[in-house]
Order: sequence, then structure tokens, then C-alpha cells
Amino acid sequence: MSFQLTSEQEMIRLMARDFARKELEPNARQWDEQERFPQEAVKKMGNLGLMGMMIPVEYGGAGVGAVGYSLALQEIAYGCASTAVTMSVTNLSQDPLLKFGTEAQKKKYLAPLASGEMLGAFAVTEPNAGSDPGGMVTYAEDKGDHYLVNGTKVFITNGGYADVIILICRTGTEKGNRGLSALIVEKGTPGYSVGRKEEKMGLRASDTVELIFEDCRVPKANLLGKEGQGFKIAMVALDSGRIGIASQSLGIARACLDEAIRYAGERKQFGKAIGSFQAIQWMIADGATQIEAANWLTLYAADRKDQGVAFTKEASMAKLFSSEMANRVAYKALQIHGGYGYMKEYKIERLYRDVRVTCIYEGTSEVQRIVIAREVM
Ligand code: CAA
Repeated sequence: MSFQLTSEQEMIRLMARDFARKELEPNARQWDEQERFPQEAVKKMGNLGLMGMMIPVEYGGAGVGAVGYSLALQEIAYGCASTAVTMSVTNLSQDPLLKFGTEAQKKKYLAPLASGEMLGAFAVTEPNAGSDPGGMVTYAEDKGDHYLVNGTKVFITNGGYADVIILICRTGTEKGNRGLSALIVEKGTPGYSVGRKEEKMGLRASDTVELIFEDCRVPKANLLGKEGQGFKIAMVALDSGRIGIASQSLGIARACLDEAIRYAGERKQFGKAIGSFQAIQWMIADGATQIEAANWLTLYAADRKDQGVAFTKEASMAKLFSSEMANRVAYKALQIHGGYGYMKEYKIERLYRDVRVTCIYEGTSEVQRIVIAREVM
């Protein structure tokens, strides 16, 4: 057992930190205000190998594994939480291709997704199917050499910019989780369009849209895995995705804590810096301790993925604990800022908004508890 990162992992962390502090952090406030998707920054991340970290080298990725990916994503999230979810969802779209794709599908999509030349999205959620994807109604009718897809997906991260969409939809007549399949839909496919862009509370520089399929013709060659495997493909991808959201939460939590420490050193009340009061010190000590715990839980899940052993439970634990921890840390960090923390002028206000969704997307905290309880009971 070793808690020591390899020299390669340390280098990845430093490279991602350097990029995030120079290219993301100085712009994050403006991107949030303008709801501007940081397309240029995402391209640069592709050039640095940050968009395909878990894709093996032979398919054009960095091949650094889940631990390296988590370390980098934590740093990206520290600089800009919106950019972190863009990176994380690109990974979510790559994972099913890697695990269930044919050789031709892997060759066609993985290298451009890894280089940032293409952006990926993962479309599961529908207006009436969130925590229960088995309730989805988007239907792909078998038309011989193609499927005719009809339906609407909502809250799709990267949707407006995505070149490749992993679409989970219904192909069979069975109810619930049965009868779902995964299709690869390319931007520009006739009948596919991007609908409403959501105006969000936080992560306002990430792209969240509705995707509309109206008699959308998807070639049969774009079936991912086998018909009926859609639910399993989604669950396997989300196992990996949850390590990503745990990592994003960690990055935001660290940014919150650093803001709180800085402010506590500057702000004077009762004649001294508020950081000299035990009430403030305890909030900071609790935050630092919780971040440390979440860090090791997340890296443990990532390490299990790299070792090729089951990590469903560990990924859910990491996602549950890290996201709830990050929300607690953000709450206390804003509390330390007092009234100033409530004002847009202070960074903590944005972080407090950004962190909220980490307990919701890629499976709510309640869904994570279902997964964990089933595994341990
Ligand atoms: N790996 C492999 N297979 C799995 C699996 C996993 N992690 N989890 C379930 N399965 C398989 C089961 O073995 C079972 O297979 P069989 O039928 O062959 O036995 C099948 O899938 C059904 O499993 P369950 O009975 O456990 O399914 P369920 O209906 O009870 O659902 C759930 C369980 C955990 C609640 C699941 O529905 C779930 O995770 N819901 C949350 C969905 C979610 O995370 N949505 C987020 C959308 S994406 C997003 O947010 C991205 C973004 O843009 C940021």
C-alpha cells in the first residue's frame, strides 16, 4: 500500500495546476457573468492531453489512468468548475466507446475526442426520466439499415458544442431498464437539433441544453454494443463519471478553503484578523480535514479502476462524500466571508453557486446511497 503519487502523476498534477491557474482562474468570473463557453481553453486542454486522459495511447489518448485523470480534474475545477464539467462529460462520452465500441468506432471517434478536435456529450436524462433512466421514452425505431429516432433529452452538458453524442434510448418493447440501447449520433445528422439552452444557477460557463430528435436517421453501424445493452452501458459509464464529479467537487472545495483562509487573514474585526479567532480556525480545520478524507476516498476509487477491479461502490462513495463535503466547505467558507461573501464581487459567491449541482448530477446523493446500500447490504 502506498500513498505516494508516482513522478508521472505529480507531473500531471503540476501541469494541470499551471494551466488552470494561468488560463482558467483569471477568466472564470467573466465566463460566468457572460455565460460564455470557454471554447478556446478547451482546445488548449485538448492539445495538452487533458481531454482524453483515460484513453489508451494507441487510440490517441494520454493513457494516464483514472488517478492521473482525477488529479488533473481537481486542478481544472480549482481554476474553473465549469471547464471541469466540460472535461468530465467528455470523458463520460469516451468511456462507452472505449468499453463497448467496435474497433472501427474506437478508431473513428477516440483520437479526435482526445485531442479536443471533437467534443463529446452523453444523453440520458429526459423531462420525465432523471434518477430513473428506465422511464425514458426517446425511441429508436428499427428501419433496416438505420434507426429513426424521436424524442427529447434535457440538461445535456456540452450538448450545443458536441460533435459526438452517446444517446441512450429505447429500441425494444420491454419496459423500464430493459429494451434500452446506446447509439452514437454525430452532429449534423438529419433530424438532430439543439434546443433550449438552460440558464443555470452555477456552472454558467458550461453548456447545458436540450437535444431534439425528430425522425433522426442514425445508421445501424452507430449502434454501440448490442441492442438492449443501453442501461448497462450508461451505468458503467456513470461509475467512471462519478469519480470525475468527486474530483470536480474536491477542486471546488480547495478553492473555497483557500478563499476562506486568505479572507480570514485580511479581514480585521475586534482589532485583529478574524483568522485569529478559534471559531474561524475550527471551520478551516474541519474543511481541511474533510478535503483530505474526500481526496483519499476519490483516489482509492480511481486506483481500483486502474487496477481493473470493481469500483462501483467506491465511485459512489467518493461522489457522495466529496460533493456533500464540498457543499459544506463552500457554506462555511462563505460564512467566514460574512456579508461580503454574499456579494458578487467576491469569488466565494460563484463557488457557492457552482458547487451546488455536484450533489445532483451524475446521480443525486440519494441515488449514490441506493448504489452503496445495495452493495454493502
Ligand atoms: N455496472 C454494470 N451493470 C450495472 C450497474 C453498474 N454500475 N448498475 C446496474 N447494472 C445492471 C444490473 O446488474 C442489472 O442488470 P440485470 O438486469 O442483467 O440483472 C441492470 O443494470 C439493472 O440494474 P438495477 O436493477 O440496479 O437498476 P435500477 O433501475 O434499480 O437503477 C439506479 C439503479 C442506481 C437508481 C440507476 O437508475 C441510477 O444510477 N440512476 C441515476 C441516473 C444518473 O446518474 N443520471 C445522471 C445522468 S448523466 C449526467 O448527469 C451527466 C451530465 O451531463 C453531467
